[in-house]
Amino acid sequence: MEKTFLMVKPDGVQRNLIGDIVNRFEKKGFKLVGAKLMNIPTELAENHYGEHKERPFFGELVDFITSGPVFAMVWEGENVITTARDMMGKTNPKEAASGTVRGDYGMTVGKNIIHGSDSSESAEREIGLFFSENELVSYSKQD
Ligand code: CMP
Repeated sequence: MEKTFLMVKPDGVQRNLIGDIVNRFEKKGFKLVGAKLMNIPTELAENHYGEHKERPFFGELVDFITSGPVFAMVWEGENVITTARDMMGKTNPKEAASGTVRGDYGMTVGKNIIHGSDSSESAEREIGLFFSENELVSYSKQD
């Protein structure tokens, strides 16, 4: 079954949005298979956002994502990668549709509440960066 990595960013955690965000994905029908509240070490942040290393906002991005606790999650379900991206809304909250997480709660492109993997390659890489195999549960006996 397809898996993706989603993370409530420090602004979302600070604004008490974890429950709302988890609720949206649960209600949609996806299964939460891993979760942790954590502070991201700088090295992990730089690695996670490695593809943006040359961007002018890279320093700001790493500073922000390490500025407070994040809620890292792994979700499972059919087409979860693209569906979760749709449910998150566009990266820039000003362009994100109402009804999406960023459209409803985000204000700026930097503080945009949530991160989600953009492809199956990213999902695999990001899940591996944040979780070990034994931190993920299986529901297969209940399906
Ligand atoms: P995210 O999905 O976590 O992936 C990369 C992040 O870079 C993105 O969300 C934005 O929060 C951030 N980002 C993109 N463009 C800018 C920008 N111009 N200034 C600051 N942050 C940005």
